Amino acid sequence: MPGIEGKVVAITGASSGIGAETALHLAGKGARLVLGARRRERLDEVVARITAQGGSAVGTTVDVTRREDLRHLTATALDRFGRLDVLVSNAGTMAVSPFDELRQDDWDAMVATHITGLLNGIAAALPVFRQQRSGHFVNVASTAAYVVKSPQAVYAATKTAVKVLTEGLRQESGPDLRVTLVSPGFTDTEGVGKGASPEVAAALSRQREEIAMPPSAVAAAIGYAIDQPEGVDVSEIVVRPTAQA
Ligand SMILES: NC(=O)c1ccc[n+]([C@@H]2O[C@H](COP(=O)([O-])OP(=O)(O)OC[C@H]3O[C@@H](n4cnc5c(N)ncnc54)[C@H](OP(=O)(O)O)[C@@H]3O)[C@@H](O)[C@H]2O)c1
Repeated sequence: MPGIEGKVVAITGASSGIGAETALHLAGKGARLVLGARRRERLDEVVARITAQGGSAVGTTVDVTRREDLRHLTATALDRFGRLDVLVSNAGTMAVSPFDELRQDDWDAMVATHITGLLNGIAAALPVFRQQRSGHFVNVASTAAYVVKSPQAVYAATKTAVKVLTEGLRQESGPDLRVTLVSPGFTDTEGVGKGASPEVAAALSRQREEIAMPPSAVAAAIGYAIDQPEGVDVSEIVVRPTAQA
């Protein structure tokens, strides 16, 4: 199925920010959406906006660190729409802090969300894609996967892992599947600095006001990759504000 129209797209972390914006962008182009996140009310608001605009979307509670939740996400796509064309693994947490603060719970959450969460999505969608002999993984990393800036080392390490896993997955995918890494730079979302140590959060908020690009820029990049003809794999997109060093 070429283009975006009619494709069934599952998105993790779709309750806000880049995930929600991507859902709205793709729905506007005729995709059918299966949306996952933990905050059910926020997810339902995104589903309601899409439905009010004449689009097609369903929401399901997903914590990407739980294998069964990802299996439920892909099963929902099959039950509701009969297929799954794209999985956008976007769920993420930016609770960054200096090492000396020893915020081990935040470190664990970044590892679990970005690495285990991505692997859970791959395990849930790959058998479906193999059976269909088509499918597209879109994995959201970060410019932090290219440049490490203190105090973001743990975040950068997990996003680098997303980059590495995506390239390995692409190499093993064969001719039927597509695999895309999308790495955004500073983007104006509520997640910037959320859960970070107070000084870091304040600095990130200031930077967000000064240089961040809208999440629609990332949504359009994801849409571009999905929109390509079958057999064309956009392997990597880095999209950042011009003002970002
Ligand atoms: N904003 C930026 O500057 C920027 C730059 C580069 C990369 N990114 C990446 O872009 C992605 C989206 O972030 P954002 O900026 O749009 O921030 P956001 O608005 O905070 O979005 C993060 C999303 O991830 C979900 N999420 C977090 N942990 C989850 C979990 N365990 N299971 C399921 N969903 C989970 C959140 O939903 P719930 O809380 O409802 O579960 C939310 O929908 C992240 O991977 C982030 O690292 C962002």
